[in-house]
Amino acid sequence: MKLLLLGAGGTIGRRTAGELLRWGAIQHLTLAGRDAGKLERLRDRLSGRASISVAAFDIADGDRLEHHFREHDRVVSCAGPAYSLEELCVDAAIRAGTSYISLNDDLEAAAAVRSRDREAVTAGAMVVSGCGASPGITNLLVALAAEELEELNEVEISVGASSADGGGPATDLHFIAMLDAAARSNDLDDDRSRSPHPVYFPDPVGWVETFPCGHPEELAVRRDHPGLVSFRFRIGLGEKAVMDVLRASVASRLTASERRRRLWLKAAQPSRPLLEKLSPGVAPWTALRTDVRGRSGGRSKTISYGVVDHLVNLASIPIALVATELPPDEAGVRTPEQCFEPRRLLAGIARRGVRFARLQPHAW
Ligand SMILES: NC(=O)c1ccc[n+]([C@@H]2O[C@H](COP(=O)([O-])OP(=O)(O)OC[C@H]3O[C@@H](n4cnc5c(N)ncnc54)[C@H](OP(=O)(O)O)[C@@H]3O)[C@@H](O)[C@H]2O)c1
Repeated sequence: MKLLLLGAGGTIGRRTAGELLRWGAIQHLTLAGRDAGKLERLRDRLSGRASISVAAFDIADGDRLEHHFREHDRVVSCAGPAYSLEELCVDAAIRAGTSYISLNDDLEAAAAVRSRDREAVTAGAMVVSGCGASPGITNLLVALAAEELEELNEVEISVGASSADGGGPATDLHFIAMLDAAARSNDLDDDRSRSPHPVYFPDPVGWVETFPCGHPEELAVRRDHPGLVSFRFRIGLGEKAVMDVLRASVASRLTASERRRRLWLKAAQPSRPLLEKLSPGVAPWTALRTDVRGRSGGRSKTISYGVVDHLVNLASIPIALVATELPPDEAGVRTPEQCFEPRRLLAGIARRGVRFARLQPHAW
C-alpha cells in the first residue's frame, strides 16, 4: 500500500508515522507537511522500515493536494487544526477518489464532512473522519456499551486532559476554539450546564473539573440512537490553574478569533510551566470516560468505561490501525464504529498497549 501522511511533522503525526511503519503492510509512506527540513529529519529517523519520501506543500494549495491524493492508495491526516483543514482534505479525497482517514475533532467540520456522503460514494472514496482518542476511541466505547442495552437514553463523554501531556499547537488551538465556541453557544442556556462538573477518571488521573463543549461524537451517537434523550461532552485540564487562566481569557474575549487565539497561545507559552506548577501532583496523562445510560431487561443500566494513556498513544494508535485495516472496497463518509466491529478494533488498540477499564459501582 502507498500511503500519504498529512501533518507528519506534527506531534501526533510523528508518532503516527512510527505506528504505521511498525504495524502496517506499507510499501511506501510519503511524509507531508509544510516544513521540508522537519520532514527530512523524520524520514532519516524512520529509514530502513519501508520506502519513505517527503512532500512539502500547503494543504491550502488545492491542486497540489489533489495531485498527491491521486498518487496514493490512501491518505491519513494528522494535520490541524481541523476547523481550517478537514474540509479541504475531504474535497481533495472526493475529487481524487482516494480514501481518507483523519483525526478530525471539530464538530462543525464533522457536520460538513458528513453531508458529503453521497459524493464520496459516487467518487468511490471512503472518508473516515475522527479516528483518534476523542472522537475515535470514545465512539467505539459508546457503541460497545450500546450492544448491552435495548434502549439508550443518555450518553456522557468526558475527557480529562493534561497541559503537560498535550499535543502540538494545533491541539491547543482546537482546545481553545472549542471552549470559545461553548462560551458563545446558546445551547447551554442555564448556569448549571455551564458550571464546572468534577468527573472521576481511572488512576493516576483521578478527579478533573470539566466543562461542556460541542464535539463530533454527538453527531454519530444521535445518528445511531435517534431516541437519545441527552448527550453531553465535557472536557477539562488536570492543571486547574492553567484551566482557570484559559477560561478567564475566553470569558474576556481574548480568544474570540483565530488571530487572537494564535497570539494568546504565543503570549501564554512562557508562563505555562509556572501555571502547571501551581497544580502540584497532577498526573501528566490523558483520560477518557464514557457513561452510557439506558434500559436492559426492563431495568435501567449504566455502562461506564475509562481509558488512561498519553495523548500521542491514544490518538496515533487508532488512526494507524484504521488506516491499515480499513476494508478496501467500500465508499462513503463513516465513523470508525461503522467500519469496524467495536470490540475487534478496541482489542487491536489494546494489543498495542492501551488499557481499558470497565468502571462499576461497588456493591456494598
Ligand atoms: N481525535 C483526537 O482524539 C485527536 C487527538 C489529538 C489531536 N487531534 C487533532 O490532531 C491534529 C494534530 O495535532 P498535533 O498535536 O499533532 O498538532 P501539531 O503538532 O500542531 O501538528 C499539526 C500538523 O499540521 C500541519 N499543518 C498545519 N497547517 C497545515 C497546512 N496549511 N498545510 C500543511 N500542513 C499543515 C503542521 O505542519 P507544519 O509542521 O508544516 O507546521 C503540523 O505538522 C489537531 O487538529 C488536533 O486537534 C485529534
